[in-house]
Amino acid sequence: MCGIVGYIGKRDVAPLLLEGLQRLEYRGYDSAGIAIHAKPAKSGQATHPTGLKTAKAKGRVRDLEARLPKRFAGTVGIAHTRWATHGAPNDTNAHPHLDADGKVAIVHNGIIDNAAELRAKLAADGVELASETDSETLAHLIGRSQAATLEEKVRQALALVEGTYGIAVLHADFPDRIVVARNGSPVVLGIGEKEMFVASDVAALVSHTRQVVTLDDGEMATLKADDFRTYTTEGSRTSATPTTVEWEAESYDMGGHDTYMHKEIHEQVDAVDRVLRGRIDDRFATVRLGGLNLDAREARGVRRVKILGCGSAYHTGLIGAQLIEELARIPADAEPASEFRYRNPVVDPDTLYIAVSQSGETYDTLAAVQELKRKGARVLGVVNVVGSAIARETDGGVYVHAGPEVCVVSTKCFTNTAVAFALLALHLGRIRDLSVADGKRIIAGLRRLPEQIAEVLRGEEEIKRLAAEYANAKSMMFIGRVRGYPVAREASLKLKEVSYVHAEAYPASELKHGPLALIEPEVPTVAVLPDDDLLEKNRATLEEIKARSGRILAVAHQEQEKADHTIVVPRNEPELDPILMGVPLQLLAYHTALALGRDIDKPRNLAKSVTVE
Ligand code: AGP
Repeated sequence: MCGIVGYIGKRDVAPLLLEGLQRLEYRGYDSAGIAIHAKPAKSGQATHPTGLKTAKAKGRVRDLEARLPKRFAGTVGIAHTRWATHGAPNDTNAHPHLDADGKVAIVHNGIIDNAAELRAKLAADGVELASETDSETLAHLIGRSQAATLEEKVRQALALVEGTYGIAVLHADFPDRIVVARNGSPVVLGIGEKEMFVASDVAALVSHTRQVVTLDDGEMATLKADDFRTYTTEGSRTSATPTTVEWEAESYDMGGHDTYMHKEIHEQVDAVDRVLRGRIDDRFATVRLGGLNLDAREARGVRRVKILGCGSAYHTGLIGAQLIEELARIPADAEPASEFRYRNPVVDPDTLYIAVSQSGETYDTLAAVQELKRKGARVLGVVNVVGSAIARETDGGVYVHAGPEVCVVSTKCFTNTAVAFALLALHLGRIRDLSVADGKRIIAGLRRLPEQIAEVLRGEEEIKRLAAEYANAKSMMFIGRVRGYPVAREASLKLKEVSYVHAEAYPASELKHGPLALIEPEVPTVAVLPDDDLLEKNRATLEEIKARSGRILAVAHQEQEKADHTIVVPRNEPELDPILMGVPLQLLAYHTALALGRDIDKPRNLAKSVTVE
């Protein structure tokens, strides 16, 4: 996803902006650019016509750095990494975009829905548009405004725009400020000592300041070196109290690992410890979830739970729905947020809606939350990034405390989110009919998870060997029944995302209804086989596959004689087994991608947080 960074202060701005862009590389991009207020030229030096200088490059931040002019000094600037939506990834389409006079520079995250109409109007007025992008229209609209202040120029331009944006704007006539605005695409201010920052993700700020202000949709801000103020796009002041980012800058470092994905897989032992910390109530065999904002009487009134998320977040929702049904006996299901919001859903006042999101900024999920709130629903958030849009938009929720997840592919956050759902299910269950004995049993199981994850990770070498054996498969089938199925779904997605090997996931019982036709030696099957009451049925499915010469890699609690290989995972409580069984399949995806030489932390075509539709 695109990234924005900006700085205004006393320090040389270009190195700061490039370092900020590098902090955002994990979000996925295909070009980058920078614009600064060039320092007034010394006597005899050619002054820049408008006072703004820009540099743009297709490719990586290092390609942009190589493009910077010799003299590129200034103390105010903005920069951008672009993930192409409108227009190919190339220098011209890279941000920042300038207006016709070169006096306005903007960087933009989001999509302008009425861009074609705006482009046509500008062209009809004789404006020559340099790029194919929707974002460039904003630069021209701001540049053509006759308003007296930069704030008013930006407000007037935004009033013409339909769609989503996170923007930062420089203007040659207003070198003492950066104006920013947010609608649907994150914008965070970094509050420093006589210097201010802006970014689309706290990852670009924490090495300079942990005091941040997250803008809401429809909010703008003016940043000066020693001050900032926030206001709405209508112009009325808003109050903005800085909050402290809980994550240290070091938590964004690679920590001695070769990739963030490997680091984050191995971080799960500590991460699961964090999501449990301070939340277990042994006295009543339940948990304390401080930010839930749902009292016991309200919880007893819940007649159904609907969980919404995208991609891996949706898959944790599948696990969460099963846990809530099993422990709280409340009917529960999960649905992709993008589907839900487009089907004009019937919103039921007795249903508790739960939005799941690592970033807390996924547009499809945020829009689903906003649709639900518009219809009067109660919505909780199960989110990793504190203070993110979804966290702020929901009525309460559970933070998953996975720490910053930099790798595009979700691992530690997936596991922590599943544990957070176990905590929520236990909480709801113990408010209803879950017994003390079962409450204690689940708590004991949760407490065993960190060490059991460590045990699974100690088997990495064997999984690496298996990955090499299966890496050249034409495609892979992932199967599981009930508790095993969400694990199979997520493992299939993870393999696709990071190794580009095609994979499909099916409920094991569905195999004979069609997908069995795909089974052949070149299409191995990964079978997720918890030792539950479906084990015999799962073993029968293995027979069906073997009868068609299919190879089988089982993830199970004991060796499976029908499988060609078995990854044995320690037993936990049956309800919690799915959480553990996903971990070896993270390593399988990782080592398959490694064997195939993939760009593991930045898989092609993908972005860490999809803040556009
Ligand atoms: C990362 O690529 C995940 N696999 C992806 O599916 C992600 O879960 C999805 O885009 C939702 O992101 P979120 O959790 O930040 O909302």
